[in-house]
Amino acid sequence: MATRSTIMDTNSFRAEHADALDSETRKLTDKRSKVLGESYRLFYRKPVHLVRGEGQYLWDAAGDKYLDVYNNVASIGHCHPAVTEAVTQQMKMLNTHTRYLHENILDYSEALLATTPEAIDRAMYMCTGSEANDLAIRVARAFSGGSGIIVSKEAYHGTSELTSGASPALGQWTAAGAHHAAGDATGCVSCGRA
Ligand SMILES: Cc1ncc(COP(=O)(O)O)c(C=O)c1O
Repeated sequence: MATRSTIMDTNSFRAEHADALDSETRKLTDKRSKVLGESYRLFYRKPVHLVRGEGQYLWDAAGDKYLDVYNNVASIGHCHPAVTEAVTQQMKMLNTHTRYLHENILDYSEALLATTPEAIDRAMYMCTGSEANDLAIRVARAFSGGSGIIVSKEAYHGTSELTSGASPALGQWTAAGAHHAAGDATGCVSCGRA
């Protein structure tokens, strides 16, 4: 059985750090703890209050500018004008699922597939990284007939049932999945293979 990692907790904010915060930050951490689920982590003992992003930069409430070398969500830069414009137009026009006909999803898929290797000739869309990883695991399982997953000790793959079960870095309060063994350089902890 895989053990849960606590590496993400080493520099996370915890209630005992609250007294060291300025009053504005304290208001936000207090509110956060009242309205958000307890498993949410908050980065840094002195949490960062971000208010704006543009390209590779982020700004906090005091106007300080940060070079973002961490955030993996805005992969082509924060608030890219072409993305915000496309999302705005689509939200104004139609926001539904994939079980109706529409040109946009077909045209976009065609353009996307023109950039991928020949073997990747179909597209499937997810809303989050968790869903994408979840689907990838299910596809791999269907293809291989296998069920096990070997992950590194500090891995994080998402919050769905399947991906959280393969994410030791979610911490000790999240149950390890039945087939998921955390491996390291010395090998898989459940089967011992390198
Ligand atoms: C490495 C990694 N995998 C998966 C995810 C899950 O993505 P999402 O939060 O969009 O479900 C994240 C999110 O931070 C991530 O950093």
